Amino acid sequence: MTDKTEFTAALTTNAEAVTAVLDALLKESDGHENRVIEAMRYVALAGGKRVRPFLVTASAELFGVDRGRALRAAAAVEMVHCYSLVHDDLPAMDDDDLRRGKPTCHIAFDEATAILAGDALLTYAFEVLGDAATHDDASVRADLVVALAQASGQAGMVGGQMIDLYAEDHEFDVPEITRLQRMKTGALIAVSCDMGAILGKASDQARHALRAYAHDVGLAFQIADDLLDVEGDEAEVGKKTGKDANAGKATFVSLLGVERAHEQAEMLSDQAREHLKVFGAEADPLRELSVFVVHRRS
Ligand code: IPE
Ligand code: IPE
Ligand code: MG
Ligand code: MG
Ligand code: MG
Repeated sequence: MTDKTEFTAALTTNAEAVTAVLDALLKESDGHENRVIEAMRYVALAGGKRVRPFLVTASAELFGVDRGRALRAAAAVEMVHCYSLVHDDLPAMDDDDLRRGKPTCHIAFDEATAILAGDALLTYAFEVLGDAATHDDASVRADLVVALAQASGQAGMVGGQMIDLYAEDHEFDVPEITRLQRMKTGALIAVSCDMGAILGKASDQARHALRAYAHDVGLAFQIADDLLDVEGDEAEVGKKTGKDANAGKATFVSLLGVERAHEQAEMLSDQAREHLKVFGAEADPLRELSVFVVHRRS
């Protein structure tokens, strides 16, 4: 594996590439609807670690997928992720005013525009996937659409967000929290890897290995997010900290405590790499990402 700085540089290079694709896709209009496009650009083009796009392109590379195609799929996943953040920050949900070091969308614009910007990012993601530029095989495009829709909706991220709200005033145990996190965060992380495999028409064995990897990385990722809410530095994290405890959110940290949550994240990260044994050095970027997600400071 390469060292930490090399990995960070690779993550940044990939982030810039996906930002360029998003920039080209999110074209401004001279009509009165342009305000919503401005809001979409505000959230999609400014910052973010771009972990999900990295997972799409690194997985796609395992199967020799054309980089331009992988970046379009990566941009689609990032649009869904950005929409989820915009809605997550709304007053009706987490009521946050800082995201990626900047005012949240509803603060910079207004609530109605933020709702619409989220809606439009969500729908545009599927338009991008369905376009022939993403893949010349229509069945691949259909598989991408179905996979991302399943991961985003009631059986995935949205379902997880619903359980997250329910858990604010109900006692949750470890299996329940695990299910909540798998849906809320894990589903989009898992589909990011799966989209790389779909684009590359990967074998069932490779696809299963990637799924198992992504499952563990997704859980480790959300545990790290919950730990940053407790231990992180607001300026570095780019969002308010201490919010989960204030809102009475059920997290791994609230249940296990800080120390055991760290241990759990490390264990999942090790386990994630175990699943990649079927791949050679070509999977090193994914191995490095599994280390990065638990040691990140933002
Ligand atoms: C934050 O996701 C929300 C969660 C699902 C935990 P990220 O930590 O990937 O946020 P950005 O995209 O880097 O801002
Ligand atoms: C949100 O989880 C996950 C999403 C689906 C957006 P959090 O509410 O913990 O994310 P942050 O901490 O606000 O980024
Ligand atoms: Mg939330
Ligand atoms: Mg939140
Ligand atoms: Mg959080």
